[in-house]
Amino acid sequence: MSETLPHQYYHDATTWAWECEQVFRRHWWLIGIESELTDSGDYLAITLMKWPLVIVRDQAGELRAFYNLCRHRAGPLVFDGAGRCQDLVCRYHGWRYARSGELLKAPGFEGETLGDRAQLGLLPLRVQTWNGLLFVCLDESAPNLETWLGDILPIAARFDATSSMQFDGEVRKKARSNWKTYGDNSCEGYHVGMVHSRLGSSMLRESVTIDCYDNGEFVGFDVSYASGEDDSRAGQGFWIYKFPGLLLHFADFAFNAETVLPLAADAIELRRWFWSNAEKATDHGVDNASIRPNSERVMDEDVTICELVQRNLASGVYPGGRLSARQEPGTIYFQQLVRKALGGLLETEKGGAESRD
Ligand code: FES
Ligand SMILES: [Fe+2]
Repeated sequence: MSETLPHQYYHDATTWAWECEQVFRRHWWLIGIESELTDSGDYLAITLMKWPLVIVRDQAGELRAFYNLCRHRAGPLVFDGAGRCQDLVCRYHGWRYARSGELLKAPGFEGETLGDRAQLGLLPLRVQTWNGLLFVCLDESAPNLETWLGDILPIAARFDATSSMQFDGEVRKKARSNWKTYGDNSCEGYHVGMVHSRLGSSMLRESVTIDCYDNGEFVGFDVSYASGEDDSRAGQGFWIYKFPGLLLHFADFAFNAETVLPLAADAIELRRWFWSNAEKATDHGVDNASIRPNSERVMDEDVTICELVQRNLASGVYPGGRLSARQEPGTIYFQQLVRKALGGLLETEKGGAESRD
């Protein structure tokens, strides 16, 4: 038995501000897929929490990531979304930057001193790829992506890489939910029977083992499905919820990855990318390898319940509850990670309360 997190951590502005600076900055975030940026000049721009970012493939074919803001007066270089460019030209007054970040031209400044141009390049960020997925990190001192993924790497090695599968598309969905409400839900299978009745019937419940991994800070569900009911899901599978907001779903003939992008204290955007291996599935007598239709239905069901839980947490009347060590070990672990990440905030609040006493 374990006590739940206090409700205010799911909706108040102080927690949100703390999380942006002290939690989100320190992690890697899945923001897209590598195949969107195959050619030199391809770019992807996104607002991650409050930070405007652009990832672009440079002249040498390398991926570069920058804050999507101009060194003149903070104008945007590109609008959010995907596209292709030669140079990065600010949309405000037209300063021009190479895709490697150097300032090339400041139109209208001829005859004026700009100082050292090398000091006026775009502000760089870290970008790395793994298994066809594109990750960024805002913190120079954070561990590299492989270290951050930890024990996910040997688990992933048991399944096919995305490079040997076909891409089945992307789904995006916004939800009126705190990222932790969605995380709590994603780390347990206790709700499956009530919320996902069709999924529940196809799962060999006794074969599910839930483990919490400190090396990578994730919850892993080793899952097997019964054949004959949901044929596309038959076989072995492994689900992962990695703190703070990455979901990976490995299966014999399919893979999907989902990112939980916090937008505000009470809002997230989910982006999920799907791959499958139809040929291999057919060889094994499975007609439809794609898990996308099932996966989208499950996602909708999760969003619906999380939005209702979020409404109730924000009502301010929830006095706190209990978590089951048997049914919800993953959620207990997730909330331990949240408490650790919010440690400084909890200490500050405790100190404030004590000094008021
Ligand atoms: S803000 Fe970019 S050119 Fe002025
Ligand atoms: Fe669910």
